[in-house]
Amino acid sequence: MNERALAVAGARGVIKRYFDHLPVGPATPIVTLDEGDTPLIYSARLSEECDADVWLKWDGLNPTGSFKDRGMTVAISKALEEGSNAVLCASTGNTSASAAAYAARAGMICAVLIPSGNVALGKLAQALIHGARVIEIDGNFDEALGLSQEMARSHPITLVNSVNPYRIEGQKTAAFEIVEALGRAPDMHLMPVGNAGNITAYWRGYTEAHAAGWIRELPAMIGWQAGGAAPIVTGKVVKDPKTIATAIRIGNPASWNGATEAARLSGGSIGSVRDKEILESYRSLAAEGIFVELAAAAGVAGLRQMHAQGRIQHGATIVCVLTGHGLKDPDWAVATAPRPPRVAAEAGPILRSLDLA
Ligand code: F0G
Repeated sequence: MNERALAVAGARGVIKRYFDHLPVGPATPIVTLDEGDTPLIYSARLSEECDADVWLKWDGLNPTGSFKDRGMTVAISKALEEGSNAVLCASTGNTSASAAAYAARAGMICAVLIPSGNVALGKLAQALIHGARVIEIDGNFDEALGLSQEMARSHPITLVNSVNPYRIEGQKTAAFEIVEALGRAPDMHLMPVGNAGNITAYWRGYTEAHAAGWIRELPAMIGWQAGGAAPIVTGKVVKDPKTIATAIRIGNPASWNGATEAARLSGGSIGSVRDKEILESYRSLAAEGIFVELAAAAGVAGLRQMHAQGRIQHGATIVCVLTGHGLKDPDWAVATAPRPPRVAAEAGPILRSLDLA
């Protein structure tokens, strides 16, 4: 490993920006792809629809197209610092894409377990092109995570799922960015929940920002699971979780307690949205110029559900986190849109087809 190159590469990214707030030190070799510092976009459409100020934390703009990179830069840097040369994760896709990229950057071996048939093609492509050893198992995410934890206990390989505390530490930086951008915490913070690491991380970020005196109030944390994969909402493990939002197709979240604590302590809640509501929000975000993957639309779907139920206060400041990029899973965009008409390569028929003739 070229130490100088690593030092130079470490000039940006969330570790550098939040060095004093992360479990890193001068000896930590910083493995970064300049993640973080993602936009907080004002949504004029959702603000008008909900009679509130709605901001979108667009974390699909991280280097591998999801929020996972914030945690992965810390997890991989610490694994390297601790002398590990191999990492392992179970994943519905995004964690594996991120682990593969950061491990490649660090020159480490990366192994990933994915549930067979339920990982978006773009995410699989990322894990493969970055050289991860990808194993599809005949089982779901929860089984893959159980196996990964078991293997990491008995073999010299570092687990980089969000049960790795460094992942949560890195991901809390998104909350820091939100309070920096708004100059305060939002009244309500809405986001998708799968394995529940990210809501745990955001809550930690907000509470640390509060303890540091950066904000006076804490937001209500409102997490959203998919209806067919809503164990926290029903209070029961879901053996066979089902949803079109494969990223959050999880029946037994590892950070279950983190999610319920965040909701309870903040006066928030964990709710569920149907696949139909996720699809509608996926399309409405796209109509505003933002292409997310399905799971990433769950927070916005939750916002619209709350609005329909009269649960949004007039003029409230609301942040919805958009967790992953739509290009990872373009099939849904194509499948739910009309097929482009095929016409002769002449201006006349093209204009007629566009109703412009
Ligand atoms: N949104 C996206 C796009 C995700 O990929 C995930 C989780 C979540 C939301 C939920 O976050 O698990 O912290 O509650 N994806 C994991 C993975 C499980 O393997 O990529 P969470």
